[in-house]
Amino acid sequence: MNETIEPQFARRMAGVPRSFIREILKVAVSPDVISFAGGLPNKNLFPLEELHECADLLMSGSDRNILQYANTEGYLPLREQIAARYARKGLTVSAENILITNGSQQGLDLLGKIFVNEGDAVLIEEPGYLGAIQAFSIFKPEFVTVPLTADGIDIRLMKQKMDAFCPRLAYLIPNFQNPSGISYSAETRQAVADICRGKNMFVVEDDPYGDIRFSGEHLPSLAHYLPEQTILLGTFSKTVVPSFRMGWIVAPHEVMERLVIAKQAADLHTDYFTQRLLHLYLAEYDIDEHIAVISKAYGEQATAMMDAIERYFPKEVHYTRPEGGMFLWLTLPEGKNAMELFNLAIREKVAFVPGNPFYVGKTDVNTCRLNFSCSTPAEIEVGIRKLAGAIKQL
Ligand SMILES: Cc1ncc(COP(=O)(O)O)c(C=O)c1O
Repeated sequence: MNETIEPQFARRMAGVPRSFIREILKVAVSPDVISFAGGLPNKNLFPLEELHECADLLMSGSDRNILQYANTEGYLPLREQIAARYARKGLTVSAENILITNGSQQGLDLLGKIFVNEGDAVLIEEPGYLGAIQAFSIFKPEFVTVPLTADGIDIRLMKQKMDAFCPRLAYLIPNFQNPSGISYSAETRQAVADICRGKNMFVVEDDPYGDIRFSGEHLPSLAHYLPEQTILLGTFSKTVVPSFRMGWIVAPHEVMERLVIAKQAADLHTDYFTQRLLHLYLAEYDIDEHIAVISKAYGEQATAMMDAIERYFPKEVHYTRPEGGMFLWLTLPEGKNAMELFNLAIREKVAFVPGNPFYVGKTDVNTCRLNFSCSTPAEIEVGIRKLAGAIKQL
């Protein structure tokens, strides 16, 4: 292309945030840095041999359809396996209402496409999942943010904002939220349902981490309290492997129809071979046993991080105590700047994500996301000690 020509990009791309975390990770990849900045599941726990065996079985069979185009909704037996997993948690979901997507991230894009006109209100948590802020930003919504408390979304403010802005969607992560690690109490779940019931809107419940619980009790999905108005997003990224990009949406029939059209336009269907491979893995192996291994490991890592924080950090630094997932959240004393702490921490060879990208329209925040799934308890101990040193300099 002639370099003097400025490409004329569509207006919808203006102001869509670039992934700040990718920029941060560039600094954090150096091998002498202990990084709590990533957001990845621990690759040492991937079921590599089992998947290898399933792939061999599929490729050595005679079913040439494994390499053929397939239907948009997804491989029905895989959707049935997903429905059966919901049933075990007490949630009745029909396979007909499940659409297999290219990760739950695609679910966010498709929901944005079918529901959000420019200027429509979309309610999100503050801090919120960066990938959802990015995905919805393409559709130019007005983000309505509601802060999180220790028990989940702030119910009083949510009610106020629901009344004032009438959002089309409320995007919520009730289990071990990214970035905060916070979970909604049963009372908060009930209250969210009570606020939303009967309004012309959907709650989008994103639950990539719900299975990775290492302490406390399983709590019912929002769909349990508000079945007609909840759209569920799920994924195998954290429980099997993220590279497969195997996610799904559970939605009522009329929403499914629109989602299928949007999905057809986007990519016809999700990778069929991988759907078959995942289906075989779920049929041949006990994924719950595998999830128990992941949960135990992450639980030990989280405990190592919380214990080290307790030991080394000044008491003025607050932190969440997650019962699952991959993250915890620090709040520095009022007026302290997380980005400044990041620069000091990098000199100490430890990295995390400053809170900034998890807010809409806020900078200079005093919060930080720490990931514990990819470091050993020993590395966590050293990293937190170094971070405590940086905090003292700040
Ligand atoms: C809250 C949340 N939603 C969605 C995703 C995207 O997951 P997937 O790999 O299924 O696209 C992530 C990934 O980290 C996440 O944290």
